[in-house]
Amino acid sequence: MASGKLQAPRGTFDVLPADGRRRDRLRALADDLLGRAGYGPFESPVFEDTDLFARGVGVSTDIVQKEMFTFEDKGGRSLTLRPEGTAGACRAYVEHGMHKQPQPVKLRYWGPFFRHEAPQAGRYRQFAQIGAEALGSDDPSLDAESILLLDGLLERSGVQRRLRLSSLGNADTRVAYGERLRAHLREREAELSAEVRGRIDANPLRAFDSDHEGTRAVMEQAPRLIDRLDPDDAEHFAEVRALLDDAGVAYELDPTLVRGLDYYTRTVFEFESSSLGAQSGVGGGGRYDGLVEQLGGPPTPGVGWAAGVERILLAGSTAPARESPVFVAIAGEEHRRAAFAIAREIREAGLAAQVEQAGRSMKGQLKHAGRMEASAVVIVGHGIEVKDMSTGEQVSVADAREAVAVVAGESAAR
Ligand code: HAM
Repeated sequence: MASGKLQAPRGTFDVLPADGRRRDRLRALADDLLGRAGYGPFESPVFEDTDLFARGVGVSTDIVQKEMFTFEDKGGRSLTLRPEGTAGACRAYVEHGMHKQPQPVKLRYWGPFFRHEAPQAGRYRQFAQIGAEALGSDDPSLDAESILLLDGLLERSGVQRRLRLSSLGNADTRVAYGERLRAHLREREAELSAEVRGRIDANPLRAFDSDHEGTRAVMEQAPRLIDRLDPDDAEHFAEVRALLDDAGVAYELDPTLVRGLDYYTRTVFEFESSSLGAQSGVGGGGRYDGLVEQLGGPPTPGVGWAAGVERILLAGSTAPARESPVFVAIAGEEHRRAAFAIAREIREAGLAAQVEQAGRSMKGQLKHAGRMEASAVVIVGHGIEVKDMSTGEQVSVADAREAVAVVAGESAAR
């Protein structure tokens, strides 16, 4: 065996406790916000049949064409590490007959996702998403609610952002529009980038995403789908916008907004943050009224979003949760067990507590307590002393019970 240095694979990272605390805090925030809007916790496997993503996300998308971690299991099945969560949520909705439950069924999730992309700041091969999906109703208030929930999450995470919003109409509108757009692209084919030219048939909409100068000029004059919506789609979109206006959320109508997944219908949106640089998308989503049916279920509308955990933390200012533990110091080897017991009792009283566990001198223990920003130090020797770390005041207590009462009182007074 070669003895090279072992490292986390390219495009992946370890979460160390300082960062982990910020993630915990973000997760608690998301669980609370989404939970109060009726979104229940949902988990699905991190790998699924490859076919789910081919059918769900779309065979012509970058995700399916280039970015999936696909492997064969020992039984010869083709499996893929999930690149996104909506297809899995819809699969689960069908598999568990969730259409029989009261609608809409609202799901929230947090977990790892995998895309084989070129790694850079804010772009990884394994990343975490927070997501929310509402299935079983096409009520425009669900679109608005979904957008407002993500806006609220970003606001409370300290993320400066702008919201881009559009509507893609229904599948028929998109087919008819696709034809118009293809005709426009073919007319001016010579001005387009090779990549866009190669995709005119498969996915002409993606031309709106191009950075190529010639292509951009062509796209500026391209017909716009938003001008061709069916009346009920236009009305649906107007209602979503009215609800957002009522809520005082600023957005930019952007008919060039194309999301990198094929399942969208009607509302699509994306939040961008300028503090992220090239990877400016912090979260996005939209409606996917055809997806459940496409995966073999009954016709079922749906709407939702996902946001990148690492991108929220990069762009935002989520403070780590402060624990300010009580530190239990040991003044002499023979008091080790008594100190251990006191730390346990303090935790049982609902506080954070740590006990000396590395054989430090008393001076070293007090320094250690200072470094962890302990609120108090309980010094266990022949007697027991409690030192309030903010005032420096030190008192003697009669026994362990009183020590616990004192630190509990101290932290309550804080
Ligand atoms: P998405 O836009 O592909 O949508 O991904 C959502 C978010 O995941 C992005 O805005 C970004 O913050 C984060 N993200 C994506 N790729 C990476 C990466 N390589 N590294 C770090 N972060 C990344 C979806 O996944 C849809 N399933 C959203 C949705 C839910 N639509 C409807 N329901």
